[in-house]
Amino acid sequence: MGKDVIIACDFASREQTMAFLDRFPGRKPFVKIGMELYYAEGPGIVREIRERGHRIFLDLKLHDIPNTVKKAMSVLRDLDVDITNLHAAGTIPMMEAALEGLTRPDGSRPMLIAVTQLTSTDQAAMERDLWIEKPLDQVVMHYAMNARKAGLDGVVCSPLEAARVHEVCGADFLTVTPGVRFADAAADDQRRVMTPADARAAGSDYIVVGRPITAAKDPLEAWERCMRDFVG
Ligand code: C5P
Repeated sequence: MGKDVIIACDFASREQTMAFLDRFPGRKPFVKIGMELYYAEGPGIVREIRERGHRIFLDLKLHDIPNTVKKAMSVLRDLDVDITNLHAAGTIPMMEAALEGLTRPDGSRPMLIAVTQLTSTDQAAMERDLWIEKPLDQVVMHYAMNARKAGLDGVVCSPLEAARVHEVCGADFLTVTPGVRFADAAADDQRRVMTPADARAAGSDYIVVGRPITAAKDPLEAWERCMRDFVG
């Protein structure tokens, strides 16, 4: 898979999501379905968007004991999404079990990527609440290495970390990066942002873009601008 823009469909209902996707006549952007939409509508929303011809990143961030995650992944594999994910904090055995559950009898499977540390967790919170006293960037790289060792395909990370993840884990290890904003737009609640062109230069494989597209007056135009700047 080459570079692509993934639109975060952070909507509360099927109606809002379909009304949004209807604004891309004849086009099939790669979409991310997160917890809000999945919990509101269930697996049917994944099947419906799939049937419309979109590629899907199912962003449910699993984190539980290995056996539970394995069984949950073996349910998700039948939804036929392109990418799904979990928390690297669940440990290497949990990630290995997830991969096993996700693999279909014919050996095919969706790509599996790991969340390292959430971008909402900063150094102070990590030390205070998690009792992890190493530098945050080292923790992110350690978790990325764990994901690589477990056989995963990549990580979700900040575009600012993409180059270093590739150095540590290899050029073929995917970096999927949220926190992307146009140079002339608001950052919203994202703290560390990059433009699509800068994320491309930093080596991100996929950018995840929500509000700059979903809240744009003309979402199709915003998506095309992202695609031009990031994919070229
Ligand atoms: O609207 P915005 O472009 O900020 O949306 C970014 C998307 O990426 C949201 O769905 C958000 O939950 C997700 N995300 C993130 N930072 C992470 C992991 C996921 O912003 N570390």
